Amino acid sequence: MGHAGNRKIVVIGSGAVGATTAYTLMLRERMNELVLIDARADKALGDALDMNHGIPFTHSANIWAGTYEDCRGADIIIVTAGAAQRPGESRQDLLVRNVAVFADIITNVTKYNHDGILLIATNPVDVLSYVTWKLCGWQRERVIGSGTLLDSARFRYLIGREYGVDPRSVHAHVIGEHGDTELPIWSRANIAGVPVELSPERRAELFAETRDAAYQIIAAKGATYYAIGLALDRICAAILGDEHAVLNVSTYLQDYHGIQDVYLGVPSVVGRFGVERVVDLDPNDDEISLLRHSAEVLRERIDLAMS
Ligand code: 2OP
Repeated sequence: MGHAGNRKIVVIGSGAVGATTAYTLMLRERMNELVLIDARADKALGDALDMNHGIPFTHSANIWAGTYEDCRGADIIIVTAGAAQRPGESRQDLLVRNVAVFADIITNVTKYNHDGILLIATNPVDVLSYVTWKLCGWQRERVIGSGTLLDSARFRYLIGREYGVDPRSVHAHVIGEHGDTELPIWSRANIAGVPVELSPERRAELFAETRDAAYQIIAAKGATYYAIGLALDRICAAILGDEHAVLNVSTYLQDYHGIQDVYLGVPSVVGRFGVERVVDLDPNDDEISLLRHSAEVLRERIDLAMS
């Protein structure tokens, strides 16, 4: 961990997601040292310079394009590197390409850092979080995937719009795979404790819009990055502020409604040491069978990735 009062974050991969995340962290004054690492050194250098020139308008921070050695002393290492989805491709299509990239990245990070938190955003994020955990050998608490935090934000945004309330006042969770088998926990969705009562048809529409949002955005502009940047910043805030915030991040599950040995998105208490525990939403029977299905699909892909 960094020295007292010093907060250091490394972002690996300065593509659309990495650069937007770094910029978000800077605007939110989340750290005083920020390192960008990219296989294309020029891209990281350009982004670091561009952000440095914004410092007179924000707060004092050291932002630079670095190498893996700069992972020394980092509180959080965010990994966004890897191939991105092309229009029409699923997140799982990226699996084989990105597992190879990760073997290299994680080996390099762990040469220089032993006690930080690895925060994974590259897709397929649940499988890559599991792969990262295996590769680094760190406690599972300290390897976190962005999971369904973004999907839950999309879901809350749409429910908020439906009811004309601020999405921050909507409590609703999307859990499971960050991808096609994810599921909404309608049984627990509420506004000020009042259950969200919508027709089955409307529920299906709102959830489909949530689940398929990334496809729509990728078809429209090639990538998604603003909302994931904010989601990653939210996780960093929970860690650095030791908030014990409940966030739907991807975490290692063991004995969770019959689910074993996978990473997937569930409400998790996040603080200084990472994921402290998982909150049981007490899903209904239908939701549990959907969750198990999502876990089985992920388990098969993990086997594929690890073979
Ligand atoms: C997203 O959901 C593509 O996983 C990315 O925006």
